[in-house]
Amino acid sequence: MISDKMKNSDFHKFFIDELKDLYWAENAVLKELPKMQEAATSEELAESFAKHHEETKKHISRLEKVFESLGEKAEGVKCEAMAGILKEGKSIIEDTTKDTMTRDAGLILAAQKIEHYEIATYGMLKVFAAHMGHKEAENLLAETLDNEKATNGTLTGLAERFINKQAVAE
Ligand SMILES: [Fe+2]
Ligand SMILES: [Fe+2]
Repeated sequence: MISDKMKNSDFHKFFIDELKDLYWAENAVLKELPKMQEAATSEELAESFAKHHEETKKHISRLEKVFESLGEKAEGVKCEAMAGILKEGKSIIEDTTKDTMTRDAGLILAAQKIEHYEIATYGMLKVFAAHMGHKEAENLLAETLDNEKATNGTLTGLAERFINKQAVAE
């Protein structure tokens, strides 16, 4: 139960606003991932985008649980930062040639910008939740944070294993 004092505190309100931002961002990422999958050259990268698309659905439902645990309605408010990162991702696709590893190297760059933004945001919101004693929210945010970190690691692995090398050789 969230006390009225907590509900009216600036920090709590700020926390809710940031959650709305993140909720918008996750929904925007959900829409972009299939396009990134479609644009990928290598099967491995396409698969990792498909996998993260499924995981992103879970991130969204976890955020809905976070709102619920705080007695708030889940709603998104446009996140200009993520809108910009996704716009840049689109231009990376346009600026690289289909069926090349340069395309995949570019897609990894775009995807890691998304993941890093998410890692920073989940990381801080988790800490905020902990400080306010919102235990359920803290746990839910921590779960998604771990998945964003793992995704970032998978992307680094693909780049280092073969994509960057093949892109240089093109
Ligand atoms: Fe996410
Ligand atoms: Fe992500």
